[in-house]
Amino acid sequence: MIPRTIERAGGTIRFIDQTLLPERLEIVECTDIERLATAIRRLEVRGAPAIGIAGAYGVALAALQNRNSDFDTFVTEVSAAADYLRGTRPTAVNLGWGIDRVLGAIGRAGSVGSAKDAAVAAADAVAREDEETCRRIGAHGAALLPHNARVLTHCNAGALACATWGTALGVIRSAVADGKNVSVTACETRPLLQGARLTAWELAADGIPVRVITDSTAAFLMRRGEIDCVVVGADRITDDAVFNKIGTYMHAVCARHHQIPFYVAAPLSTFDPGRIESEVLIEERDRAEIAAFNGKQTVPVGVRCTNYAFDTTPLDLISGIITENGVLLPPYDRMP
Ligand code: MRU
Repeated sequence: MIPRTIERAGGTIRFIDQTLLPERLEIVECTDIERLATAIRRLEVRGAPAIGIAGAYGVALAALQNRNSDFDTFVTEVSAAADYLRGTRPTAVNLGWGIDRVLGAIGRAGSVGSAKDAAVAAADAVAREDEETCRRIGAHGAALLPHNARVLTHCNAGALACATWGTALGVIRSAVADGKNVSVTACETRPLLQGARLTAWELAADGIPVRVITDSTAAFLMRRGEIDCVVVGADRITDDAVFNKIGTYMHAVCARHHQIPFYVAAPLSTFDPGRIESEVLIEERDRAEIAAFNGKQTVPVGVRCTNYAFDTTPLDLISGIITENGVLLPPYDRMP
C-alpha cells in the first residue's frame, strides 16, 4: 500500500507531492498555510476529499499558530485564514466542507486554548473518517462489479485523492479484496494526466491490472465491447448534476449509448443539496496547461485556449451513486 496522501504530525502537515508522480515519490513537510494553499493550487494535493482534509488541517494550523489571547480576535483571524484557503479552488465542495467542520469546532469552544484543541481534533477526525468512508463506499460499490469486470475510470479518484483507499478506486480495491478479478482502463485525463500519472501508479503499486488510454480512445473501447462499466469520482453533486474532471460527461454519454452502467462513487460530503449546476463556478485553469506538451509549444501564440478543469454530467446519465450509506439509484428524487 502506498503512503497516506496527507497526514498531520504535531504542527506539521505531511503530503505526497503528486506533481512529481510517477517519476518520484516525495513527501513534503509543511508548517504554514501559504505553503498549503500553494500545494492545493498547484495540485500537489488534489482530489476532492484530499483537499477537504488539507483545508481542515490548514485551519487547524492557523489556529495553532495564532498568538491572540482574545477569543473573538482569534476567531476573526482564523476565519480570515480559512477564507484564504477556501479561495484556492472553487469547484470541489469538500474543500469548504473540511474547512467549515474545523471552523464549527472552533466556534463552539469557549476559549482560545480549547479552540486550538478542538480545531486539531476536528481536523484529525476529517482525515480519520475519510478512510472509514472510503472503505464503506468500497464495500457498497464492490457488490456492483461483476467477476472479471473491465472497469473504465477517468482522472484519479483513488488513494491519492483521499486520505487513502479512494472512492472510485476504493470500489475496485474492495472488489479485489473480495476475490474478484478486476482490470482497469485508466483514461490519461488531459491536460494534467491524473489518470496516466496517478491512477496507473497507485493501481500498479497494488498489483491491480491497469492499462492507460488516451481520453479519446474510451468511446472506441466501449464500441468494441471491452468495457463492462464506468466508475468515476465526483467533486460536487448538486440536485441536478455531478461535477467531476473534464471529460467525465463524454464518457457518460458514450456509456449510455452503449448501454454500459456508469457509476459515481462519492462520500456524502461531496453532495451540495439545494444547489443546482448553474450556481456553481467551474474552475478554469491556466492556458499554459494546454498550450504546451513535453516542454514544446503546441498552440500558436495569440490563439485562445479554454481550459475547464471540470464538467457536469446530468443525473439521468448516471446508473447509481455509491456513497458510504449505500447506492442511490435513479430517479434520485431523495438525495441526501
Ligand atoms: O483537478 P483534480 O485532480 O483535483 O480533479 C480531481 C477529480 O476530478 C476527481 O475525480 C474527484 O476529485 C474525485 S476524487 C475522489
